[in-house]
Amino acid sequence: MRYLLGADIGTSGTKTVLFDENLNEIASSIAEYPMYQPQNGWAEQNPEDWYGAVVQTVKEVVGRSGVNAADIKGIGLSGQMHGLVMLDKFNRVLRPSIIWCDQRTEKECGQITELVGAKRLVEITANPALTGFTASKIMWVKNNEPQIYEKCRHILLPKDYVRFMLTGEYAADVSDASGMQLLDVPKRCWSAEILNKLGIDGELLGSVFESCEITGYITEDAAKITGLAAGTPVVGGAGDNAAAAVGTGIVKEGRAFTTIGTSGVVFSHTDRPVIDKTGRVHTFCCAVPDCWHVMGVTQAAGLSLKWFEDNLLKDIAVKAREKGTELYDVINDLAQNSPIGANRLIYLPYLMGERTPHLDADCRGVLFGLSASHTQGDVIRAVMEGVAFSLTDCKDVLGEMGICVNDMTACGGGSKSDVWTKILADCCGTDIKRLGTAQGPALGAAILAGVGAGVFDSVQSACDRFITPKSKILFSRENNLKYKNIHFLYKKLYISLKDDYKILAKL
Ligand code: XUL
Repeated sequence: MRYLLGADIGTSGTKTVLFDENLNEIASSIAEYPMYQPQNGWAEQNPEDWYGAVVQTVKEVVGRSGVNAADIKGIGLSGQMHGLVMLDKFNRVLRPSIIWCDQRTEKECGQITELVGAKRLVEITANPALTGFTASKIMWVKNNEPQIYEKCRHILLPKDYVRFMLTGEYAADVSDASGMQLLDVPKRCWSAEILNKLGIDGELLGSVFESCEITGYITEDAAKITGLAAGTPVVGGAGDNAAAAVGTGIVKEGRAFTTIGTSGVVFSHTDRPVIDKTGRVHTFCCAVPDCWHVMGVTQAAGLSLKWFEDNLLKDIAVKAREKGTELYDVINDLAQNSPIGANRLIYLPYLMGERTPHLDADCRGVLFGLSASHTQGDVIRAVMEGVAFSLTDCKDVLGEMGICVNDMTACGGGSKSDVWTKILADCCGTDIKRLGTAQGPALGAAILAGVGAGVFDSVQSACDRFITPKSKILFSRENNLKYKNIHFLYKKLYISLKDDYKILAKL
């Protein structure tokens, strides 16, 4: 039997999963790490933590599975997008990575737009300048930490730093590289024009590959500490959303998925680069050669619930322990027992600013309508509903662009919750299919590895053969109508607060 390994370097942790060649899950392991917020709106992580988590989880998975490492025919990496990793000439990490949800770079976005020209920027990178994207983070280091920029010899994305540590190669794949804003997205190669205009030396970037191409092989050193076999091929892999698309079978025109991970996404596969000129959604190369995707992103989806859990609802974890049940079972029960609309409580999920539908680095979270009668269940339900409204906004923007999403497949941690998936189906007014697995990105990365290693003929054929939805959550028209009224007020709240967010940011 041949095996494939997928590792997803996420924001809350890394998940590594070993599959056999029929994509049955053999073993999996998760290791978590912190996110640091040195200032309001900033977000950083240590690249060494990502690599440590990959080493630990790969070792566990290989050891526990009892599989002979030589039978693992390929490795695929998936990862949180956009994060900036800078290495010096000795390949040492120069500073903590400024990650995707960091919002410090508004000034640099203005600078990029001025240097490249708004129209040309969208023509080449398919997106306007965004605080989340890597180019503005590079410019921020250039402007604010010139002594660090001067020492920088290599710029890598999060999963590509892990690739470097495993294979010694500096490389990126087209889907993740699209989120750097340095790639010519229609042509799928680095843009010399953008690099020149921004004054970034192209030598700092690695080679760019399609997601299923082999980019390098496990080195002797990496083999020793992970338990993998030296010489095992590592393919390009993909940004977490492009990898999740493969893992959920969204590899053909007309298909879409939604994910509630740390961020939330509505993702649609396209055969050509379709662009929203106002930048409310992103257009990137996808993991299927010669195809693209359009996606709306809400910054704080799972992150919102996690923030409430960690900061305001700590006793729920205690209750769960006392009852001997899972934390998320208690959370789901509490949400289930609150009615639609959470007893007139509305949550705006803008803890880390927002991208879709409001490109706004300064907006922040709101609990609107809080009363002394509200319970923990109401707060949890309001959080779930607020995230669902934001994902509905993502779907509606795709609709305005002529991309019709009639049904979606769900993935990400949030899709394990029946109540949250039902809220999302009712808000969006679409049925939501679920697979029997929540391994989206790691599974997608393993499929890409299988194509690169010759185990599968193509991404589409592997998905057609192995990825089938196991259940469907149906939306209710009656609930959809109720949600429409609440969604109307939810949207109005952002409009009312828009200017006040700017004042708040300056306090
Ligand atoms: C996508 C994005 C997030 C991160 C973290 O543009 O920023 O989805 O990849 O998951």
